[in-house]
Amino acid sequence: MITKEISNKVFFLGAIDWNRRLFDSLIPLPDGTSYNAYLIRGSEKTVLLDTVDPSMAYQLLDQLKEVEKIDFIISHHAEQDHSGSIPHVLEKYPDAKVITTPKGKELLIDHLLIPEKKILPVADGEELSLGDKSLKFIYYPWVHWPETMLTYLKEEKILFTCDFFGSHLAASETYVSDECRVYEAAKRYYAEIMMPFRKMIRKNFDKLNEYDIRIIAPSHGPLYNKPEFIIQAYKEWISDEPGNLVVLPYISMHGSVEKMVEHLVNALEKKGVNVQPFDLSVTDIGKLAISLVDAATIVIGTPTVLGEPHPMVTYATRLADILKPKARYASVIATYGWGTSVVEKIAEMIPHLKTELIDPVVVKGHPKEKDFNALDQLAEKIGAKHRENRFE
Ligand code: FEO
Repeated sequence: MITKEISNKVFFLGAIDWNRRLFDSLIPLPDGTSYNAYLIRGSEKTVLLDTVDPSMAYQLLDQLKEVEKIDFIISHHAEQDHSGSIPHVLEKYPDAKVITTPKGKELLIDHLLIPEKKILPVADGEELSLGDKSLKFIYYPWVHWPETMLTYLKEEKILFTCDFFGSHLAASETYVSDECRVYEAAKRYYAEIMMPFRKMIRKNFDKLNEYDIRIIAPSHGPLYNKPEFIIQAYKEWISDEPGNLVVLPYISMHGSVEKMVEHLVNALEKKGVNVQPFDLSVTDIGKLAISLVDAATIVIGTPTVLGEPHPMVTYATRLADILKPKARYASVIATYGWGTSVVEKIAEMIPHLKTELIDPVVVKGHPKEKDFNALDQLAEKIGAKHRENRFE
């Protein structure tokens, strides 16, 4: 049964996945997630915008029980958490057509085996009349796949954005009620999903200025009835300006790297630089991703294991590289017993990070006075770079 009408004849459907803890078998979801779908009843046509993860198709179909006809299903994004139930909806409404971008058509055929004749590709800026309501389709590629688009419902001033502006947050409220909680969830979502496409997102961001937006309706997490909150947050996240922050992911096997980390953290704080260390043996990798959104400098701490960085450091370093944060500087603090190539190996792992390498500190065995002095010098150099660039 449909229970939530967010605007005149615009209904909020979907499913809340309270217990999901991992997405793409990679991304931690400490607060679960939701798959939001929407139904618009025009005077002539009825439209469903996105669906839900196929594991929860039964919930969407239950909500649609009393809906006799759907003319169009709009697929903003072909990833299965939104498109995966389209085949079930088509089974119930065999005359419905799926509206998407041309690239979306290709992906829906590839991933969901939807018959080509069921799909209607639309052009950028194309409009669709539902009778007393009209939709405009806005291409917005790379949020976060190449086929993505948004839909603007003119009469109600609602922008449907699918993943864009979304948050992995299971919550029963319709609209954001706790901005701090949603800020963290949306930033985590941005860091893990959208950050690699920061420049593409920025390229299209001004498109939003053309629209008077009363509500942003994403397909994960609560809706925004004060859209400026999330628009402003995204403007900061996608900008090229990092904050006065060092992010320091590390592993310590016998305590030497940990001593170096403690010393460097104190030395950086004395220089007025904010620092966030992450012990990778216990950290939530999503928290590390959130910090990378603002980091100006990344310092990687590792012992040497069989000549290389610790495997958990390798994992975090590769993840940081593919997330493509805006950091400008990088360094390494490391230990070894009898031989090491950790600095060279780490440098090879970060081809996407456009960072300047600041002199690493590599220590044989337990750190000694000269090593702590070297860490003080590293903190001095980082502090100078941050001041020079006026990172705040
Ligand atoms: Fe929520 Fe890219 O799927």
